[in-house]
Amino acid sequence: MKFFADTAEIAEIKELADTGLLDGVTTNPSLIHKSGRNFVEVVKEICGVVKGPVSAEVVALDYDGMMREAGVLRKIADNIAIKVPLTPAGLKACKALSGDGSMVNVTLCFSPAQALLAAKAGATFISPFIGRLDDISADGMQLIGDIRLIYDNYDFRTEILAASIRHPMHVVEAAKIGADVMTAPPKIIWELFKHPLTDTGIASFLKDWQSTGQKIV
Ligand code: E4P
Repeated sequence: MKFFADTAEIAEIKELADTGLLDGVTTNPSLIHKSGRNFVEVVKEICGVVKGPVSAEVVALDYDGMMREAGVLRKIADNIAIKVPLTPAGLKACKALSGDGSMVNVTLCFSPAQALLAAKAGATFISPFIGRLDDISADGMQLIGDIRLIYDNYDFRTEILAASIRHPMHVVEAAKIGADVMTAPPKIIWELFKHPLTDTGIASFLKDWQSTGQKIV
């Protein structure tokens, strides 16, 4: 499973990239707003830190507008994935952009039918939003499973990017069900490392080691 960070905070991205486990980054207009940074500048900086796909989202709602914005975004770096919304115009843009060699992340997916359409439009990534479905008492993880089944039935190469992750178990469940990628806020990625038995184990090993009076170096 590939790990993407869902943030536009450069310091957090650098810290995660330092682990060697970060495969990409996703941003959205809300995350750009939260960063307080200029969109193009911050995305360019992120692309310099992370070699894998960095998603940058168009905000136009019509096909021509999306294509104009995508033209600007794809020039930022070779590892840009253009993010388009799951609408007829967004999927038309997806087809044109992916046909032209760009990576495309189709975002705001909430149903298996939408995911099927995105795959047919040649999306590189489909982003089903697990947390936002759970928030309205729907089953976000079921959606991931349904998409997995459909994509496997037809050998679609579109990667399932589990998005809107709210806690570490979302990551684990998405991995079990076969999502190709997950994107999560850095805080949640760091939580994946934690286990109280790891902490107490280290403490007791260290105590016993100190009692031996030895040193490795
Ligand atoms: C994905 O690309 C989105 O940026 C993100 O996962 C949305 O998550 P949210 O529902 O927590 O805003």
